[in-house]
Amino acid sequence: MSGSVWAVVPAAGRGTRFGAALPKQYLLAGGRMILAHTLDALLQHPVVAGVMVVIGGNDADWPGWTEAAGKPVLTCTGGATRADSVLAGLLALPESVRADDFVLVHDAARPNLAQADLGRLLEVGRMDPVGAILAAPVRDTLKRAGDDGGIDRTEPRERLWRALTPQLFRRHQLARALQDARGGGVEVTDEAMAMERLGQRPLLVEGAEDNFKITTPADLARFEFELSRRTA
Ligand code: CTP
Ligand code: MG
Repeated sequence: MSGSVWAVVPAAGRGTRFGAALPKQYLLAGGRMILAHTLDALLQHPVVAGVMVVIGGNDADWPGWTEAAGKPVLTCTGGATRADSVLAGLLALPESVRADDFVLVHDAARPNLAQADLGRLLEVGRMDPVGAILAAPVRDTLKRAGDDGGIDRTEPRERLWRALTPQLFRRHQLARALQDARGGGVEVTDEAMAMERLGQRPLLVEGAEDNFKITTPADLARFEFELSRRTA
């Protein structure tokens, strides 16, 4: 597979569940912003040509980067939901990104992406007509709760996966799928879900469990631990 891909990085969330004074993507880990770690993980890969970071409408914390790792860092303004932000990012990509070019979408709040996983997603996903996502098989036993908090039953976990990012789709197809979901009043929580709605079957590419999303302070502590292990 030849050619390069751009990445869209939704970073317009406010980190309500984290509860810090700043949106979590701007908090420091190992002396650098979470977002800097995330962009590094993407831009280190030779196939990734640049990133479009989608930021909040009146984001006073964005550090104003225009390049990283010698590659362009562009920005645009996001929307009220993650899906709106991703759509805004796709529409704002430079014209050099063609309609049928593959584009990566990766959460700003997911800084612990391994190069091997990104590489495998790019390799396998670009062979697929639709695209692919990183995902991890469900390992825990799943319980269905009743209204009273008691267990109604155990749900089979065979063939259940947790959707991670990056997710890899073609620029125009993904934009159309996100527009269609919005038009239908459906809030899609990842890119694959928008594609599935249109009858597409994206490929699952197994990725590492530790490509976790920072949601709470405990996740940030976990990332700091992972960072300390990297250099140890
Ligand atoms: N995101 C976005 N635009 C939104 C909402 C979320 O770009 N309107 C981004 C976040 O910045 C994050 C990713 O989507 O990188 C995943 O969202 P989530 O983990 O939910 O982050 P927040 O929405 O910031 O956190 P919370 O839901 O706790 O407020
Ligand atoms: Mg959110």
